[in-house]
Amino acid sequence: MRKTIIAGNWKMNKNPDEATKFVSTIKNDIDSNDCDIVLCVPAIDLISVRDCLIGTNIKVGAQNIYFEDSGAYTGEISAKMLADSQINYVIVGHSERRQLFNESDEMINKKVIKAIAHGIVPIICVGETLRQRENHVEIEFIRMQIKNALINVSGTSKFVIAYEPIWAIGTGKTATASQAQDICAEIRKVLAEIYDPNIADEIQIQYGGSVNSKNAKELFAMPDIDGGLVGGSSLTDDFVSIIKEAI
Ligand code: PGA
Repeated sequence: MRKTIIAGNWKMNKNPDEATKFVSTIKNDIDSNDCDIVLCVPAIDLISVRDCLIGTNIKVGAQNIYFEDSGAYTGEISAKMLADSQINYVIVGHSERRQLFNESDEMINKKVIKAIAHGIVPIICVGETLRQRENHVEIEFIRMQIKNALINVSGTSKFVIAYEPIWAIGTGKTATASQAQDICAEIRKVLAEIYDPNIADEIQIQYGGSVNSKNAKELFAMPDIDGGLVGGSSLTDDFVSIIKEAI
């Protein structure tokens, strides 16, 4: 039985002071045993948010890692550093990183492998552009992204897949629940091909792209959608309402 997982992706928002103030006001309302809740915060907020969440079931995640443990990689943070700091999750392959920072499928695969090696759960993002959807190649594209991200990743490892159509991110344009369900079902099919149906059945698949408290219920009710990766709405009280829809 898959647990619902709701993750907030704060992107490059909130300094440590703002982060702890916000988390202190919402943490009691979003703490849950029934649902996995994760806050993926900017690197500079990780420690203060982690400390603020002591005594709750809410987990903290980073938004990126590098795929080496240490060394001359100016500006980067490793999975090992996260693990040593009791950070539990990391977003890998977000479309903003793929597009703005030229992250390739190969780099994403290396990051996934490293995160898992250090016991960090990667939230692996996939999703098509508007043009790909208009050209009806979205399924083929997403199948390829999943296969490439999971090269040499065992089916017994813990990871999450987030389906985020690029045209729905930060645009206010959500995929309809049935569009999102269709792709998430396809993703589960690919996972069943790579591993086996029993393993695929256990993997959490999120939808992301303009999730808010108004559309969350319908999206999360879909059989292959196990929660959401929430950007803009995770920065406000709407995040509390989204979680109430999920539990
Ligand atoms: P959004 O972002 O909810 O603001 O569309 C989602 C994401 O990029 O993870």
